[in-house]
Amino acid sequence: MTLDLAQGLADRAQALSPFLADRLVAWQRQQGRHHLPWQQTRDPYRVWLSEIMLQQTQVSTVMGYYARFLERFPDVAALAAAPQDEVMALWAGLGYYSRARNLHRCAQVVVADHGGEFPRTAAGLQTLPGIGPSTASAIAAFCFGERISILDGNVKRVLSRVLAWEQDLAVKAHERALWEAAQRLLPATSQAMPAYTQGLMDLGATVCTPRQPMCLTCPWSDVCEGRRTGDPQRLPVKSRRLVRGQRENAWAWLVWSREDGPCLWLEQMPQTGLWAGLWTLPLFDDEAALRACLPEPCQGRVEAQPRFKHVLTHLDWWLQAHRVEVTDAEADCLTVMLRARPGAGGAGQWVAERDLARWGLPAAVRKVLTGA
Ligand code: ADE
Repeated sequence: MTLDLAQGLADRAQALSPFLADRLVAWQRQQGRHHLPWQQTRDPYRVWLSEIMLQQTQVSTVMGYYARFLERFPDVAALAAAPQDEVMALWAGLGYYSRARNLHRCAQVVVADHGGEFPRTAAGLQTLPGIGPSTASAIAAFCFGERISILDGNVKRVLSRVLAWEQDLAVKAHERALWEAAQRLLPATSQAMPAYTQGLMDLGATVCTPRQPMCLTCPWSDVCEGRRTGDPQRLPVKSRRLVRGQRENAWAWLVWSREDGPCLWLEQMPQTGLWAGLWTLPLFDDEAALRACLPEPCQGRVEAQPRFKHVLTHLDWWLQAHRVEVTDAEADCLTVMLRARPGAGGAGQWVAERDLARWGLPAAVRKVLTGA
């Protein structure tokens, strides 16, 4: 990036800075969102929890999870002391499970290394597990009034437009220049930081939307450089296109009717990666690989369930469960076979169907097993 480009951006930000913050704060107070549960507090534990849940997840989905989490873990010490399985079970269905594992670790670090108090600056918050620069800035601005800008996807869009920043944000230096410009736009006082930060989020979520932004209701419309150039919707520029992969697998849904009720075989996912630490059905490359693991008499009892698509960030994952009722002798044999198969890691067990609600299952698995 040439210095001219960065200087031009900084100059535009400097020129606009006397207007933007005051207007956004006034707009937020009148038109913004005020009734979200995490807005009724400056408690860093609650704000942190909400910000982590809201990463890549809609407000409407987060509401119920947020309330249940706080009921069970009212403060950081309660969360730190909880067994990991319980944290994962409460998170099940929210997706992106590395967030939950980091959340738990972060609570433990806050208790062990910070005397149970969150650091009071974005720089300090960023040293904790699972807290990136934008989340750290949001917590510091909301709870401690730090004059620091968030720069999540919504805010990148809003600021690229108002400052007509045409450079590709996939280039780190271009993103950095935008953040530096964002710092110039901040309100002069700490007291205004919570409303300003919420205002940026509200503007991105409700007015300056990716398609068909509602410029007529925007508090910045008359000074928006992107709008002046005619087509704000083309911004931001981000070159890296997501190429979606496709993958297909088979799940074994093994049902063993024991005397004390039906059970099924679940396996725990590894502690990193997709569904980290949650319990799921044993996964196979395809139906043939699944059948190769089954004792001969079961072969005639395999019932293929409808195939469905599970959409991940980079991948369409097609899954098909195969339900098999197994006898006592087959269950014993399967216990050995399943634990021995490559990749199973030994972490599988028969789980009573009536206890399923207590296990941390990914939403997709719960749907297959219970239809809900
Ligand atoms: N997304 C991320 N943080 C948020 C917040 N505090 N309010 C609404 N949506 C958000």
